Amino acid sequence: MPQHDLNLEIIPVPEADISALVELFLLVERQHEQYWPLRWALRADVHQRYTRWITANRTNPQWLFIIAREKAVGGGQRNAGEVIGGLAAAMNEEIPIYQFTHYAFIHDLAVREQARRRGIGTALLDYALNWAREKGVNQLRLMAADRNTAATALFQKFGFQTTYREMVIPVAPN
Ligand SMILES: CC(C)(COP(=O)(O)OP(=O)(O)OC[C@H]1O[C@@H](n2cnc3c(N)ncnc32)[C@H](O)[C@@H]1OP(=O)(O)O)[C@@H](O)C(=O)NCCC(=O)NCCS
Repeated sequence: MPQHDLNLEIIPVPEADISALVELFLLVERQHEQYWPLRWALRADVHQRYTRWITANRTNPQWLFIIAREKAVGGGQRNAGEVIGGLAAAMNEEIPIYQFTHYAFIHDLAVREQARRRGIGTALLDYALNWAREKGVNQLRLMAADRNTAATALFQKFGFQTTYREMVIPVAPN
């Protein structure tokens, strides 16, 4: 597993690391906001809101909030390395016409810039895939912005297939 080679640990986010995880996720969210504000415009108090949301849901079995960090040398030390990657996913219910009822969905994934191309994104996806498998669902979904070539390359290499394209039309107010 990449985690082993990298001396990396991937764990459910401890309360003390929620703020660092939110900062990491906000890098992605702000990137998306720049792509197309209509679709991804963030609220001014997004950090507080995201922190509250993770705090409220991090032990909910329908949610997955994980972080990647370097293992402390010698192991067992409380303060291992800083958060260098994170992923948020959830169980979602489908409309009742398909043979499956639920699917897992990745909402956010990010790796710190200086830690990229070391397999951390892949390791986080591996964890999410195992989580989805343990939940008994038959699929793990995500959405990637067309312009996000790094993410698209990662997802394709990992085995995700493009199934459809989200399309949005601005609705002008009357
Ligand atoms: C996308 C992202 C999570 C990838 O994380 P990562 O830890 O660098 O990914 P990995 O090291 O596991 O990469 C695995 C493979 O994905 C592909 N890949 C990853 N980043 C790439 C890039 N910038 N350009 C081209 N291919 C890339 C490569 O095939 C890579 O294998 P290789 O390094 O052996 O060539 C990271 O770039 C990131 O955090 N970006 C900003 C946030 C973001 O866009 N998140 C996704 C939102 S949907």
